[in-house]
Amino acid sequence: MAKSLKTFARESAIKKEVATWTIKDCNDYLNKHKYDNVKPNSLMAKKLNIVMKHQKILEKIKLAEQMEGKQREELLKDVPFDLLIKNAPKEVRDPEDKKLRNYQKHTGVYLWSLGYDIDKFIGAGCSAVVWKCKDEKAMRVACDNKLLGFIKISNSASEIKDSNKIEAILQNNPKNSKYLFSTKHIKDVGKSGKAVFETELAKHGDLQKFQGDNSYKKNIERILQMASDALKGLKALHDSGYSHNDIKPDNILVGEKPKKDKTSRINLKIADFGAMTKIKNTYKIFTNRNFHAPDFYKISKGAVEGRDIYSLGCIFIGLLIEDKNFSENYQNLAKQLTSIKSENFFNKYLKDIYQNIIEPEKDILIEFLDLISKMVQSSYSNRISIDNAIINIKKLKKDIKDIKEQKQIKQFKSNVIQELKNNFKNKSK
Ligand SMILES: Nc1ncnc2c1ncn2[C@@H]1O[C@H](COP(=O)(O)OP(=O)(O)O)[C@@H](O)[C@H]1O
Ligand SMILES: [Mg+2]
Repeated sequence: MAKSLKTFARESAIKKEVATWTIKDCNDYLNKHKYDNVKPNSLMAKKLNIVMKHQKILEKIKLAEQMEGKQREELLKDVPFDLLIKNAPKEVRDPEDKKLRNYQKHTGVYLWSLGYDIDKFIGAGCSAVVWKCKDEKAMRVACDNKLLGFIKISNSASEIKDSNKIEAILQNNPKNSKYLFSTKHIKDVGKSGKAVFETELAKHGDLQKFQGDNSYKKNIERILQMASDALKGLKALHDSGYSHNDIKPDNILVGEKPKKDKTSRINLKIADFGAMTKIKNTYKIFTNRNFHAPDFYKISKGAVEGRDIYSLGCIFIGLLIEDKNFSENYQNLAKQLTSIKSENFFNKYLKDIYQNIIEPEKDILIEFLDLISKMVQSSYSNRISIDNAIINIKKLKKDIKDIKEQKQIKQFKSNVIQELKNNFKNKSK
């Protein structure tokens, strides 16, 4: 039955007024009018209930701002997520980074409600959003994601399985933790399709970001060290029976490792195991095509690790060449590098770096290029195996160390001679 204009006007006025009430106003109203006088299913009774509940929740959220960790989590555990999204502290629900999409912002609110004090957003891929926390930890929230609303491209439940597999690999051989980046699963969020993982913070972010800083490129020693870390990470994964399938610069994290002499060195770790598969099975898997070997979908059962070697070879090309020249895609570069006209590649991209290093290092650069070209062969059967690649890089690292030592000895000798000469001069004065 249509409402009379009068009823409608009255209800709207009540709604408008009641909506602004605080819990105290509700209580005052109830004290004055006695709850019994408000018919249980009257609009006023319903509205009062909603307003009171809502107000209580808002007060809880306010109170939670002063709490930390478990206490905050406990207080907020029954609060509906949509109210958290609207009412969490401003810096949490509306972080500075303007690029963030809503669903990405919401992961920050979620972490806050679990008691984490998030500091800033540090990265996101297709499946996860990662936040730096004030205590220098990184929290990764994997979300169910659908492409165009129907193909599931990531799945928080499978992320949990992957995390458990990596944990098992690391438990079997703790040394692997030097090269594989583990994320410990700590919480799932049931129906909402989110899972939360805790990880250490990679000081320099992912390799893509790190490469924005060109200053390290002229240092062959460091490049070889980075390549060696990545190869060892891949070997650890392959030896455990898995192929990564999504090797690209944003899935390699760059940290810093203390050395015995109290200095530190850059170290790389392989991360993001969301596309990992068992080597003995072949799967169609959808990952970044820029790093796919030409035979990515053709490699037969039991040989899928060859996909990773090619992708890593592409990354090594990226480690060497200056970004400002780098406009072409990786497969194209790999093709140029493996063709008989590889000098063109060299002249176009590596002349600068070649001119800036000393003679013996030049040979090492050429040998490293040779290794890369063996990794990015277009056909799997011609590609170098991971074990041989590691042997190669180990030798190159030793060579560069020898060169450095010889350089130091030479320098030392010349210093001594200079000192003797000075002494002699002083004495003869
Ligand atoms: N522990 C970490 N420290 C620093 N940056 C990180 C860390 N974990 C992830 N990132 C950043 O977040 C991005 C997305 O993380 P990733 O695990 O690759 O998620 P996805 O599966 O969605 O690709 C990474 O490319 C990297 O830039
Ligand atoms: Mg990723």
